[in-house]
Amino acid sequence: MLTNYPELTLDKSARKYGSLYSVCPGNQLFAIVSDLGVAKDLMITQGAMFSNRKEMFIKSQIVCAGRGITATPYNDRWRKPRRIANTWLNQQIVDSYTLVLDFEATDMLQGLFAESKNSVAHINPQTYAGRYNIHHPIVAEALRLSRVFMNCTGPMSNIVDFVPLLQWLPSPLKSKGKALHRDLVQTYGGMINEIKKKMQAGEKVDECLTKTMLDIQQTEELDYLDTSILASAFMIGGVVYRTDPSTPRNTEARTRRARSGKVERPHNPFWLGTPHTAMEDFVYDGKLIPKDTVVVLNTWTMHHSEKRWDNPLEFNPDRYVKDLLPTSASANLADPYARDHWMFGAGRRICPGMIVTEPEIWLAISRMLWAFEMVQISERPMNLKEYDGLSGRSPVPFEITLKPNFDGVGEVIRKEMKIWKTSSMV
Ligand code: HEM
Repeated sequence: MLTNYPELTLDKSARKYGSLYSVCPGNQLFAIVSDLGVAKDLMITQGAMFSNRKEMFIKSQIVCAGRGITATPYNDRWRKPRRIANTWLNQQIVDSYTLVLDFEATDMLQGLFAESKNSVAHINPQTYAGRYNIHHPIVAEALRLSRVFMNCTGPMSNIVDFVPLLQWLPSPLKSKGKALHRDLVQTYGGMINEIKKKMQAGEKVDECLTKTMLDIQQTEELDYLDTSILASAFMIGGVVYRTDPSTPRNTEARTRRARSGKVERPHNPFWLGTPHTAMEDFVYDGKLIPKDTVVVLNTWTMHHSEKRWDNPLEFNPDRYVKDLLPTSASANLADPYARDHWMFGAGRRICPGMIVTEPEIWLAISRMLWAFEMVQISERPMNLKEYDGLSGRSPVPFEITLKPNFDGVGEVIRKEMKIWKTSSMV
């Protein structure tokens, strides 16, 4: 199975076999989609046909126990939680986080500025992206759970997902999946129970996904596992931020946006996305895609398409300078060759978290670019080809120096933080 750098293996095959080819490990047929037009035709135009999910043995059956959103087939087991999730992932709700997110991004800059010691210190900025206390036991556990999840749910990594006989046998991966399921339910189910107790005791509970789930638990017939796994999907998805609508749209800001917001093309954290499956037999361009075929978006090849970009291997953020659409709008463009990237998937199963994730990335990176020149340490060059994780990936740890872009950087940050701290908004 594809374990190390699967995107490069698929890319090599795409160059040999074309924009739609198939592979059949074990009992499972995969259709690999490597062209933007084919991706649109199948995943978007034929969305009713290609929005199903294979119930992967490890991810869907063992870890998520057939619940949550990501792992469920295209039926009411998906519609209901997706509808509930959408009540917390819409623009109005996301807009209400603005100030907190802006504060967090500024607070992150303050930490980076202090630690960088005016570009003397070698620091790993990755650890500053998490806006939490990594020493808190629940945070440490949440990070551990996400990491285990990313490492045992790769869409094409586990042979046991595709060979039913192996599913009956004990295996380290199966045990890992069961332990992960148990720990997710204990951790997030336990937190839900605590909130439930508060609500039952008449205490005030802030509006949040958990409160919504508990409020509608009976009418929506959600059991304990449903709520625990839905909460897990959100926690694994990540912490959410949003952008400030007053962000200036001048040229410099746009350039920074281009530089910050579109790192998704060369470094997509989910190169193979979460595959969809075919609901019925379907013939595309003379090729039969049988029912239950797993359709994989080969986003590495798509993001490096010569049909879409000049010099696609070159990191050139300026190519997005004139592209002012947010990804959520770009994903709806009629022309797939005009779309910014496919990092959040496609069609009816597209990531509902993109509406908050994109501004989060923008806030963090644009502020870092405003404040610092990030400089590679010559004795310790970074290797951007290496990453950690089989499903979602992150770069392997690295260190750089942060050189303030001008003398007053520290002072501007200090003043900003003072305003935040005297405001009642955060
Ligand atoms: C950089 C961060 C993220 C990336 C790259 C990402 C990427 C993806 C991808 C590729 C899919 C599969 C889409 C498809 O099937 O076509 C997905 C699905 C999903 N994502 Fe995200 N995601 C991110 C953040 C989040 C966040 C913050 C949340 C929640 C707060 C979230 C919640 C979900 C859910 C619930 C699904 C399942 C959708 C469904 O099957 O209907 N994601 N994501």
